[in-house]
Amino acid sequence: MVSRRDFLATTTLTATGLALAPLAACSQDTPRPLSVDPKKPAGALTAEQPFRGTLLKRAIPSSGEQLPVIGMGTSGSFEVGAGADAREPLREVLKRFVDAGASVIDTAPTYSSAEDVLGDLLAQAQARPKLFLATKLSGVSGREEGLAQFGESLRRLKTDKIDLLQVHNLRDTATQLALARELKQQGKVRYVGLTHYRDDAQAELVAEMRARKPDFVQINYSPVSRGAERTIFPLARELGIAVMVNRAFEDGRLFAQVRDKPVPDWAAEVGADSWAQLFLKFVLSEPAVTVVIPATSKPKNQTDNLKAGVGALLDAKQRTALIAAIG
Ligand SMILES: NC(=O)c1ccc[n+]([C@@H]2O[C@H](COP(=O)([O-])OP(=O)(O)OC[C@H]3O[C@@H](n4cnc5c(N)ncnc54)[C@H](OP(=O)(O)O)[C@@H]3O)[C@@H](O)[C@H]2O)c1
Repeated sequence: MVSRRDFLATTTLTATGLALAPLAACSQDTPRPLSVDPKKPAGALTAEQPFRGTLLKRAIPSSGEQLPVIGMGTSGSFEVGAGADAREPLREVLKRFVDAGASVIDTAPTYSSAEDVLGDLLAQAQARPKLFLATKLSGVSGREEGLAQFGESLRRLKTDKIDLLQVHNLRDTATQLALARELKQQGKVRYVGLTHYRDDAQAELVAEMRARKPDFVQINYSPVSRGAERTIFPLARELGIAVMVNRAFEDGRLFAQVRDKPVPDWAAEVGADSWAQLFLKFVLSEPAVTVVIPATSKPKNQTDNLKAGVGALLDAKQRTALIAAIG
């Protein structure tokens, strides 16, 4: 079956052809990993450079605990079921992540097989102790349903503790957040949070943040979806709430918007050599953001994303230039 993500990638590449070679290298696996060197003309490809350096960290306001700023999501990317072939690249995606010192992984019981796949791969790599695992109370109503779902998440993820338990998309918020706090009291959860992924839900999320003061909020933010700058970020700073950013690539659509454009020359000023790194540095240049969770199924894209967590972020001029470059 062709997934929505594969369909997007295929149509993007088919529509744009050879002119897209540099960005195709950012979104398709090849036997020899390639990446774009911004100093070379469009189309010039060089061997992929491994991740080097130390990831920036930011503190969770409610505890002071430091988290690496690059995390990862699992929606789509880890929904691959039991097949060994489909899981193999994800093993490497996870290895590169852990080897770089990253730790925050976001999943949900309603991302089809993602919790099972992640749980199996973490157990095989014995990586659970190095990770900050976030999952959700998702689509459930009432305490008993939420509790049963949480028990299943522990089983599927092969763990006895969740670092961050979030109420997914503001569904049954009062009851599910109360349950998450109860589990926190029992030591089964370390932090509680609320999530959404659309600008039009941010007013409701703001109201819930004020009323309930969770440890974390998770929300969408990118150079083309900037509502959180006016709503979520100022309030998170005021109330001392950590911010996890989803959809930093607009579920991949941002790459289609820059597909025929070379990475700007000024990217080198912040040590970036790909659009992905610029998009992630844009998100992280907002001081309210604690961690961003791009999702990828490809090892070389994981390395690309991790590189955004090292070195300079974007200043105001560079942020404006990036927004203009996307057009
Ligand atoms: N309500 C909620 O709580 C909520 C809602 C939405 C998302 N989330 C969370 O946030 C995570 C991230 O959001 P998302 O998965 O919707 O989308 P996203 O991270 O904005 O975009 C993912 C897409 O970007 C591509 N990509 C990743 N790195 C790349 C790179 N370096 N170069 C080129 N393409 C790259 C991926 O393709 P490849 O696989 O080919 O790399 C994939 O198609 C989710 O996985 C989930 O954990 C939560």
